[in-house]
Amino acid sequence: MADELKRGLEGVLVAESDLSYVDGEVGKLVYRGYDIEDLARGASYEEVLYLLWHGSLPTAAELDSFVADLAAEREVNDGVIETVRALADAGERPMAALRTATSMLSAYDPDNEGDDDGATLRQGRRITAKIPTVLAAFERVRQGEEPVAPDPDLSHAGNFLYMLTGTEPDAVSEETFDMALTLHADHGLNASTFTAMVIGSTMADVYSSVTGGIGALSGSLHGGANQDVMEVLHDIDDSSKDPVQWVKDTRDDGGRIPGFGHRVYKVKDPRANILEEKLRDLAESSGDTKWLDYTTAIEEYLTDQGLVEKGIAPNVDFYSGSVYDSLGIPVDMYTPIFAMSRVGGWIAHVAEYQEDNRLIRPRARYTGPEDAAFVPLDER
Ligand SMILES: CC(C)(COP(=O)(O)OP(=O)(O)OC[C@H]1O[C@@H](n2cnc3c(N)ncnc32)[C@H](O)[C@@H]1OP(=O)(O)O)[C@@H](O)C(=O)NCCC(=O)NCCS
Repeated sequence: MADELKRGLEGVLVAESDLSYVDGEVGKLVYRGYDIEDLARGASYEEVLYLLWHGSLPTAAELDSFVADLAAEREVNDGVIETVRALADAGERPMAALRTATSMLSAYDPDNEGDDDGATLRQGRRITAKIPTVLAAFERVRQGEEPVAPDPDLSHAGNFLYMLTGTEPDAVSEETFDMALTLHADHGLNASTFTAMVIGSTMADVYSSVTGGIGALSGSLHGGANQDVMEVLHDIDDSSKDPVQWVKDTRDDGGRIPGFGHRVYKVKDPRANILEEKLRDLAESSGDTKWLDYTTAIEEYLTDQGLVEKGIAPNVDFYSGSVYDSLGIPVDMYTPIFAMSRVGGWIAHVAEYQEDNRLIRPRARYTGPEDAAFVPLDER
């Protein structure tokens, strides 16, 4: 049993955690026991951060001081902005730019060498506050615009949209984006969270954990599926193709439908249900139902084909792209926005794991030779 090899660590238990639980058979996700639907509809992203980092929902006074502390950390040093400009000039991809800039943030953290009990959460708060500033600055600079300074009076979600566009968002956009941040904040030991934990288990600083988490999330098997969905929807639109025909052609070619299927969920992802509803609200209020029509047609067709019943159901990415597009967010910013939310989960898991830390160090089954005869260089 001890020597059983689990490819991809699938199903392997490596830690105990109070943070989030996914029941893929019934489509349930909870953060510290609270159903994701209740949190998405009733709590702000800041409340969710507090819940994940401090163990309980905040009182109004606790939330006020938490929000103020977070907002006070939004500004980033000019040195980081100069680097962001250089990265945009070089045509760097947004996730790679975020990875580089996040690592650089540590240079300006007044207690980046703090390694006492509270250091992970203290430094983590600064990182969480500054990531939106970095991302918005990168997007503006590459569009030939100047970065917009953060507004400490706006919410985490509202301030990001403000820094991105230079205009304060309307209430529906702010609420929708806040909901999307909550929905992506944590999801058990996914690959990027585990990456952050492995780094944290060496007692490296949390900048290293978050930088590693961003790297892991950037991979196409993890954070990129909502971008794929949106590219498909644009493709369907640009070519005036019938969405159902696109699905038929893709399946005939043996291709997969992005936004469908999940390693854990065998029914529709609960986050997809919530975002679908939001997409419907946005479509109704704007009168532009294009993305809603396409996604509904695809889902109905695949349901009729029995795919959903077989467990290949819509996941969170099937709807998040359309929601972001409706908010005017460019497609290649979707994965960075995922990072902007998931950073809350990464920090929570690192802090939780370090409370009873054990260096994460698995083994590989060695399949190479054990007695190769060494030949000196000049005899090879
Ligand atoms: C997410 C994903 C990688 C999970 O895959 P997995 O648990 O490893 O499942 P498998 O790859 O073993 O697939 C099981 C079966 O379902 C099929 N399947 C899975 N996802 C599918 C999809 N999106 N479209 C069509 N068929 C799909 C596979 O072809 C396979 O069929 P087979 O047994 O006849 O070969 C997979 O569903 C996928 O590639 N989805 C599209 C990308 C996506 O949306 N990713 C975001 C996830 S949040």
